[in-house]
Formats: sequence, structure tokens, C-alpha cells
Amino acid sequence: MSSKVAVITGASAGIGMETALAFARRGYAVVLAARREDRLRQVAEKCRGYGTEALVAPTDVAQEEQVDALVESAMEQFRRIDVMVNNAGYGVHARVHETSDEQMRRIFDVNYFGVFYGCKAVAPIMIRQRSGHIFNISSVIGRRGSPFNGAYSATKFAIRGLTESMRVEMSPYDVRVTCVCPGLTETDFWRHVDGGKPKMQSSFKALRSIQPASHVARKIVAAVGKNKPEMVFTPGGKFLALISALSPRLTDYLMRLYHDELTKSP
Ligand SMILES: NC(=O)c1ccc[n+]([C@@H]2O[C@H](COP(=O)([O-])OP(=O)(O)OC[C@H]3O[C@@H](n4cnc5c(N)ncnc54)[C@H](OP(=O)(O)O)[C@@H]3O)[C@@H](O)[C@H]2O)c1
Repeated sequence: MSSKVAVITGASAGIGMETALAFARRGYAVVLAARREDRLRQVAEKCRGYGTEALVAPTDVAQEEQVDALVESAMEQFRRIDVMVNNAGYGVHARVHETSDEQMRRIFDVNYFGVFYGCKAVAPIMIRQRSGHIFNISSVIGRRGSPFNGAYSATKFAIRGLTESMRVEMSPYDVRVTCVCPGLTETDFWRHVDGGKPKMQSSFKALRSIQPASHVARKIVAAVGKNKPEMVFTPGGKFLALISALSPRLTDYLMRLYHDELTKSP
């Protein structure tokens, strides 16, 4: 096998699907993971349309044995993994004190443990290869918590901590580890938010800083092999990262305006 190989979780839709297509366009063989096999097959067909190989691997990232099986099947088929994109995830919209224990544990199982299992499974392979790049998808909400996003935000902060630690641990082996922090991105994410309301989505859209998923995908592909600790997208995302570092109190004030908009009656 001469082509490079990218494994992408959450490849059945949104950012993951666009990232898979972008890697396929660059000639990578792609391994597509998510729960909806029919969607994965459609994405695989499109990838093959670019003249590359595509392996469909139905996977629930919350199950460690399934993530191990995903990585094993990629190795069986292609004998190497050059890129791992730990992208699968979803949101919960609820105030912290109204978030159930079950909601909190479930979102950690998928968003955080899914990333952890992916990192754990590919690290020994990339160490052996002495090359590789892991992209862990966090969020701008992983840089600064926002109202109604406590559970989601906690998973994305956790991903950043894990990624920072791993980046240094993997550096002696020339393996890169990058934390990707997209801002508001146009995908089906909003349809799958646990507890989300359409009003919240329109409030987000009012921030006018929404980007297409293909934009995030292109940035990821362009970053392969580069020593980028973190990637923040969209003007809104960059602004949030900057002011939260400079002035947490000013950021609280702006977040309060946002909170009031979310909670005001129609
Ligand atoms: N959209 C945004 O504004 C935004 C902003 C910042 C960060 N992000 C992050 O970007 C990532 C991708 O989200 P998206 O916007 O592309 O949303 P999306 O269109 O809803 O895609 C989510 C993907 O994750 C997969 N997934 C969910 N639960 C899974 C599980 N248990 N096992 C395996 N796959 C699972 C879904 O596939 P199946 O349902 O087929 O399993 C789907 O492919 C997420 O981590 C999200 O937090 C999104």
C-alpha cells in the first residue's frame, strides 16, 4: 500500500464527513467510523469517486472494544495509519444544575472517552511508525465555558488537557497531536443536541460567525505534519479565545448578555 491512511470518527456527517472527503481528494485511503452504516457507505462511495480506497467501519466510539476493532481493521487493510481524526461528538443544552447525571455521563462517554480510546489505540502504532498525526476535535467552547453548555464544554476542556499532555509525550517519536477548536459550524450538530431548542440555534446564528464544515476540513488536511498545538477557527472563535484570556470578567459580562437572550421570552 503506497497511499497514506486517515481514520476519521464521526465520518457519517458534518465536519467528519467533509474531512474524509478532503483527505480522499488528497489521495489518502480513508477509514470511516460512525454508528450509521448506511451514511458511511454513501460517504465511502463519494471518496472512491476520487480514486482512493475507503473502508467502512461502523463504530460506537463510547465502546472501547469497538474503537480498538476500528483501528485493528484499518491496520489489517492498510498496514499503517498516518492520521487519526477523533471527531465524533454531540451537544447537551441545559444549565449545569438541570443536567442529569445520565446526560453528563453519556456525553463524557462519547465526546471525551471516544477521543481517549482513539488516542490510546493509535498511539502504539504511530510510535512504531515514528510518524503520524492525531487531531482531537474540541471547540471554542473548550476554551471558554458558555451558558447552557456546561456538560458539553467540560468534555471539550477535557479533550484539550488530554491533547496537551499527549502532544509532549508523543514528540520524541515525531508524532504530532493537535487540538482543533472549531467555532460555530454549519452541520447537523444542532439537530442532535440533547435538550436543545430551535430558539438557541437561531441565537447562535445571530452571532453571524458560522462557517461551512468544508472549511474546518480543509484546515485539518492542510495542518497534517505541521507542529500546530491548537487551531481556532472563525473570527467569533478567535475573538472569544482572545477576550477570555485577557479578561474573564468582560467575557462573563458578554456571556451574560448571551444568556439573557437565550432565556428571554419570545
Ligand atoms: N457544529 C459546530 O458548530 C461545532 C463547533 C465546534 C465543535 N464541533 C465538534 O465537531 C464534531 C463534529 O460535529 P458536527 O458539527 O460535524 O456534528 P454532526 O453533523 O452531528 O456530526 C456528528 C458526527 O458524530 C457521530 N457520532 C455521534 N455519536 C457517536 C458515537 N457514539 N459513536 C460514533 N460516532 C458518533 C455522528 O455519526 P452517527 O450518528 O452516524 O454515529 C456524526 O457523524 C463534534 O465533536 C462537535 O462537538 C462542532
